Amino acid sequence: MSNSTNRKVTVPRFVKAAADGRRLSMVTAYDYLWAGIMDEAGVDSILVGDSLAMVVQGHDSTLPVTLDEMIYHGRQVVRAVKSALVIVDMPFMSYQVSPADAVRNAGRIIKETGADAVKLEGGAIQVETISAIMRADIPVMAHVGMRPQAVRQLGSMGKVQRDQEQLLEDALAAQQAGAFGLLMELVPAEMAAKITEQLQIPTIGIGAGPGCNGQVLVGPDMLGLTPNFKPKFLKHFAQLRETAVSAVQDYVSEVQAGTFPASSHSH
Ligand code: KIV
Repeated sequence: MSNSTNRKVTVPRFVKAAADGRRLSMVTAYDYLWAGIMDEAGVDSILVGDSLAMVVQGHDSTLPVTLDEMIYHGRQVVRAVKSALVIVDMPFMSYQVSPADAVRNAGRIIKETGADAVKLEGGAIQVETISAIMRADIPVMAHVGMRPQAVRQLGSMGKVQRDQEQLLEDALAAQQAGAFGLLMELVPAEMAAKITEQLQIPTIGIGAGPGCNGQVLVGPDMLGLTPNFKPKFLKHFAQLRETAVSAVQDYVSEVQAGTFPASSHSH
């Protein structure tokens, strides 16, 4: 949808592509350099995920990242992107206090980054917030299943919502409230496929099997840049950390040996 037609992916185009039966690809990126690479590769959507708290900032959960930091990263991504739909996560406590607060903060994200949409965690419990943001003409994606921002409540990051009825209720509530899409994280494949069948809006899965309308992966994870992280749902499409470490080791050796810079690198 994106690079093949060289047209910017907008929310209506994203939704229509799924309705037309196209499978959607989404990855996370957090800065200008990587967003440019992902966009050039032709992904349909880039998510500036609050996973940046862990992947980029080195925290042990997504809770510490601030709204200002999400905006800082979102701006870099938008600057790099020519085609992909850019979605920025609303960080912890930027939408939980009240719908009015959520609208204000979603507005800051859109105004200050130029992104296309925001994402927040929750289904049924966030219906008022989703519709308030939507009424401000800001497209919202809802995120259900494993909700990393609920880590304190659930006790561990991997604790998954497995109650099928509740999941379906969350999905339908988010759609009814006006969400343009639904991200499902760590939802059993059969359940995710069933929910997808019942919704009109696109579903994007991570660890949710092939029955969703699209897939998302954390960019640095799929490229093999994050060490010691290999959950079952993850596929490494490259081993860039190994390649980078080995390249820097070569550089260090050459500097130490005096073979770099050679005369061909000198003015
Ligand atoms: O923040 C994030 O990276 C996410 C993932 C589920 C893709 O929301």
